[in-house]
Amino acid sequence: MDKAKKLFIKTYGCQMNVYDSERMAETLGAQGYVATDTVDDADMVLINTCHIREKASEKLFSDLGRLRPAKAANPDLKIGVAGCVAQAEGAEIMRRMPLVDLVVGPQSYHRLPEMEAKIQTGERALDTEFPVEDKFEHLPARKALRGPTAFLTVQEGCDKFCAFCVVPYTRGAEVSRPPVRLLAEARDLVARGVREITLLGQNVNAYHAQDDSGVWGLARLLREMAAIEGLERLRYTTSHPNDMEDDLIAAHGDCPEVMPYLHLPVQSGSDRILKAMNRKHTAEDYLRLIDRIRAARPDILLTSDFIVGFPGETDEDFEATMALIERVNYGMAYSFKYSARPGTPAAEKPEVDSAVADARLQRLQALLSKQQKAAQEAMVGRDVTVLYEKKGRMPGQMVGKSDHLHAVHVTDPSGVPGELVRVRITASSSNSLAGERLEG
Ligand code: SAH
Ligand code: SF4
Ligand code: F3S
Repeated sequence: MDKAKKLFIKTYGCQMNVYDSERMAETLGAQGYVATDTVDDADMVLINTCHIREKASEKLFSDLGRLRPAKAANPDLKIGVAGCVAQAEGAEIMRRMPLVDLVVGPQSYHRLPEMEAKIQTGERALDTEFPVEDKFEHLPARKALRGPTAFLTVQEGCDKFCAFCVVPYTRGAEVSRPPVRLLAEARDLVARGVREITLLGQNVNAYHAQDDSGVWGLARLLREMAAIEGLERLRYTTSHPNDMEDDLIAAHGDCPEVMPYLHLPVQSGSDRILKAMNRKHTAEDYLRLIDRIRAARPDILLTSDFIVGFPGETDEDFEATMALIERVNYGMAYSFKYSARPGTPAAEKPEVDSAVADARLQRLQALLSKQQKAAQEAMVGRDVTVLYEKKGRMPGQMVGKSDHLHAVHVTDPSGVPGELVRVRITASSSNSLAGERLEG
């Protein structure tokens, strides 16, 4: 038998890309590739890219530049580009970067086996179609690569067309996977030791399907997954405020497997900017929604995304965002300086002065870190449930996540990944909590 070929995958971007990388590894695994964590002994390097901001997509070109010596030393080394930059700029990557052997878009990676065979003959391969067949039907079985937690893509694409965003172009139109498949994939993951599943979608709460048993929304999908024996925790991301339906809010209150954590991006607190962004709701709509979610699950930890310096943003608009953050009080949030993306409507508009946007971003991030710190410190002294994910860096230490998705370090020499344990939180540091395991 041939020596196994080695595959090195580098992943940028969102959790969907992490999921796709795992599935691409499984697909190439069926072709005899095993994973390696260094470029040095790799037979193939696959870069799974993100196009969301300019900085993210520039990383591809610097990575490719760094791969030049490796390719010169080993002409048999195959280099592939996957993900959203591949989708948006595939032909151009092929033209500008002769060292690239393969370009595959997010909707066509089930065709990797044929593409791999083609590049082994010395040809180059490009596939950035949105094929009619469903890629998920053509992928090998799941492997539960990350221990007790797993991602499961339930919905892809986006029809919302926020004025700043490339996702509707790189990932295509919104598509939901059939519930029977998803329940089978979830059961399979649980049989491999997974105890927590995060359902993924660019617009996950827009999930909708129909079969002989009727209509499915995300709430029904969560409830049916919660009934799987051995599946202890469910999360989902990313949600749009306009798709937060009553039964989904209710599930946070009455379905114990649905964790008290919700990522609900708002982007801005200014109605004028929200309108220009095409978000289709006001700040007040969002705040009322938050009240309803908190009424269903009072201890829920809320997180968000913010864009600072969207074209036309004034000081007053920015202050409205700060006021919204004060009112919601987030457990954590991501914030970004606006980045004009080719092909999006906002890219046509004059930009906010870069130094002004930087200064706003700094103030906003200071407020968000203050809130994050307070949310973590509020956990000290409380007893929480932690799902151990892996051993920590210190001897005898375990690392896991609480229900609220805080990373928790616990000294527990007999702890094993996959265990759900009760922990008393004793300290909070910058990005994690520390605690002691409770008996029983
Ligand atoms: N589907 C999700 C988010 C997808 S992208 C949603 O609806 O919110 C993740 C985050 O990247 C976005 O929430 C937004 O805050 C940020 N983002 C997207 N496009 C951006 C751009 N052009 N410039 C800066 N940040 C951007
Ligand atoms: Fe992008 Fe808006 Fe769709 Fe989110 S909802 S993926 S921000 S277009
Ligand atoms: Fe980036 Fe594509 Fe995800 S652009 S954020 S990798 S959907």
